[in-house]
Amino acid sequence: MPSRGLLLNLSRSATCLSSVASQVSRPEVPLAVGTHPLNEAERLETGFTLDPQLFEKIQKKDVKIAVLGMGHVGLPTALGLASLGWDVLGTDSFAPLIDKLQAGTVPFYEPGLEQLLHEHLGANFQPVHDLEGAIREATILFLCVGTPQKSSGEADLSQVEAAARTIANQLNGYKLIIEKSTVPAITAQWIKRTIRRYARNSEREVPDFDVASNPEFLQEGVALKNVFHPERIVCGVQNDRARQIIEELYRPFEAPILITGLSTAEIIKHAANSFLSMKISFIKMVADLCELVGADVTEVAKGIGMDHRIGPDFLQAGIGFGGYCFPKDLRAFIYLAEEHGADFSLLKQVEAINIHRTEVFMKKVRGALWVLHDKTIAVLGLAFKPGTDDTRESPSMRIVEELLKEGSTLRVFDPKALPLLENALLKDSGKLMFCESALEAANTAHALLVLTEWPEFRDLPWSTIRDRMELPLVIDGRNLLDPQAIREAGFEYLSMGRPDL
Ligand code: UGA
Repeated sequence: MPSRGLLLNLSRSATCLSSVASQVSRPEVPLAVGTHPLNEAERLETGFTLDPQLFEKIQKKDVKIAVLGMGHVGLPTALGLASLGWDVLGTDSFAPLIDKLQAGTVPFYEPGLEQLLHEHLGANFQPVHDLEGAIREATILFLCVGTPQKSSGEADLSQVEAAARTIANQLNGYKLIIEKSTVPAITAQWIKRTIRRYARNSEREVPDFDVASNPEFLQEGVALKNVFHPERIVCGVQNDRARQIIEELYRPFEAPILITGLSTAEIIKHAANSFLSMKISFIKMVADLCELVGADVTEVAKGIGMDHRIGPDFLQAGIGFGGYCFPKDLRAFIYLAEEHGADFSLLKQVEAINIHRTEVFMKKVRGALWVLHDKTIAVLGLAFKPGTDDTRESPSMRIVEELLKEGSTLRVFDPKALPLLENALLKDSGKLMFCESALEAANTAHALLVLTEWPEFRDLPWSTIRDRMELPLVIDGRNLLDPQAIREAGFEYLSMGRPDL
């Protein structure tokens, strides 16, 4: 996304302030959470008012923001806030990441992000190594640290706790700590308790602070669009003081703000990701039946998606969902439910259907090629989706591993994703070649697999590709290609949940 466009969009937002304010959904009572408390912990705290002088400074953007964690969430958030005119300090416990940012390099691919970094670096965005100093300097802190998963599926919150303890030791005045990392319910309560507990260890008087939960809904590949044009902003707060600051922060965005209790906001994030995962697994289940009865799942998806209660998005059947969010968040949500004795068997099926996709796809490949040993296979796409170089939990990587286990020779191309050379299986196989183009990958191949729906794969010179291949066979794991056109280019074509051609 060109930065020029971003600035235009932002200045448009800035000029619409009054109309934005009228569109922001505000509770009629001081706080919606106060009227509908889910439980004791959600109840609104009273008697916390914002110091008018501090509020004036916030309104003038005369306070600093620190963003802790410079990953896929933290960096777009930090640069988005910098674009709005805030002074933002970016920190991360991984020092080389800060070195890279200071040198003007974004360590992962996200469209438009590097341009935005160049615009703000050294001006109102400063990547800094000194975490403690950044916490002391800032009034508003965004927690965007990692929440990886343990082998049990439970979220590993050690980075969140470490950040809370560091904040506790550096509290030097009022601070609003905004949790943005995806975390299980009651983490915000724990952050608060942890800060209180560790701040009390020192001898000084503990300054006031608030914790808010403001889950992110950024999609890799379109993160900046999500930052600047959010569909909604969800924020869990415990008092009016935190709400006032949050509303001030997000005022320029033309998006409704839903204010809730802390745990409610945390659940909204997990429920949103799980619901979307459920839609994907649902259509995959339907795709299996479509194949058996000769129906076309893409038409089925279109037909059901026209009902506004269902909607057309996230109904693309294929080799499954991956990435660092859906699989991990789904497991963490299931774990949380089990911990509390709630029946989440529905979501267990969502996960099982997704994992089973690799086998479904492998069956299709075996069905088309019979013996896979010593066959040469072109693989287009390693990233878990287009627009990113991220291969974490990518279904494509699982299929690559399975094909290598069966003794195939792979010629792989992805426009952005780098080969995961640390993956021992891939490294040691000696049967994997990373190619510079789709055309090169197709050379001498007995089949070509489309595993990531990069739009540019649609427009490849398919006739030339056919001439380079040993056998003209395409297996499309993402239903990306037009069956008729690919058939006309001389290929046998198999896809997911659509009649074979
Ligand atoms: C997801 C959510 O969409 C974001 O709202 C959320 O903020 C983010 O997780 C997060 O928790 O941080 P993301 O993981 O970037 O975003 O990617 P998605 O675009 O949601 O795709 C996830 C996976 O589902 C991909 O592997 C994609 O190929 C797959 N997918 C998506 C399908 O298989 N079919 C579909 O119809 C849609």
